[in-house]
Amino acid sequence: MKIDLAVVPVAGLGTRLLPATKSQPKEMLPVGRRPVVQYVVEELAGSGVRRVLFVTGHGKGSIEDFFDVDQPLIEFLRTRGKEEQLAALEFERNQVEYAYTRQREQLGLGDAVLCAAPFVTHEPFVVALGDSIIGLHGHSRVVQRMVEVCQQRGAEVVVAFEELPSREEVVHYGIAQPGKALGDDLFELVDVIEKPTPQEAPSLLAVAARYVFQPSIFDYLRRTGRGKGNEIQLTDAMRALLKDRPGCGIGIRLPPGERRYDIGNFASYFRAFLDFAAADEEHGNMVREHMRKVLSGPTP
Ligand code: G1P
Repeated sequence: MKIDLAVVPVAGLGTRLLPATKSQPKEMLPVGRRPVVQYVVEELAGSGVRRVLFVTGHGKGSIEDFFDVDQPLIEFLRTRGKEEQLAALEFERNQVEYAYTRQREQLGLGDAVLCAAPFVTHEPFVVALGDSIIGLHGHSRVVQRMVEVCQQRGAEVVVAFEELPSREEVVHYGIAQPGKALGDDLFELVDVIEKPTPQEAPSLLAVAARYVFQPSIFDYLRRTGRGKGNEIQLTDAMRALLKDRPGCGIGIRLPPGERRYDIGNFASYFRAFLDFAAADEEHGNMVREHMRKVLSGPTP
């Protein structure tokens, strides 16, 4: 079955980024030239996704506005001959249909994904977290690979993972218990634990914000109680599914050189912004030169 639907949860409050996110969604923060959510959608569109269902919430309306075709703005730029700025709006015309539903209560990521259930019915689908960019400028094709793997191997769940540089960091992520290797970048996903302590963590492989699920995940989400942070965790539903149907899960490592840029806190947001600005076609050289100066000067 073709997989061309992605659920993109964007309902989180972004409290770790206050005050920047007080009256705008964290997914609309710019990283380099674009808001985070534009990279996410462009990555999905490049991987064959044609329908995006956002799970939004209070105060997230600007995400919906962003993906509209803004005819008055286009006319304004056209009459003034602003070709470069017009080109920056080309994403409005991509081949994607958008739909929006709302998570009415802040009950966690698992609950946000469950909000998509009435709209998904019988097909497998992608979940892409709206606050994480994969690969510089969102050029990753890992979702395409995940979809192929899901179809070829008849998996119930395929999850992308990134190897963490140190054990202390496991406390921020879902962490895989990998089983046997299924190829260079693939492994059997035996279990996954949400935000374990460094002692509990079965590996350094962290859930990297991209998943492919069969609709069976919804049955497990409905039965999942509150977990870490008193929230309904997607990881806990996956865990129950993997336990019930051993061998139904596959982990895939991000390709070498591809990273996950997480916008969920200031440290990772600053790193992402610097990386994207330094790689900007027009201003990258200037940014790198400026950073050199900043580094060699006195600490401000
Ligand atoms: C969520 C997931 C976690 C995952 C992380 C990054 O956590 O619960 O398993 O590793 O996203 O993809 P959050 O960052 O929302 O706390």
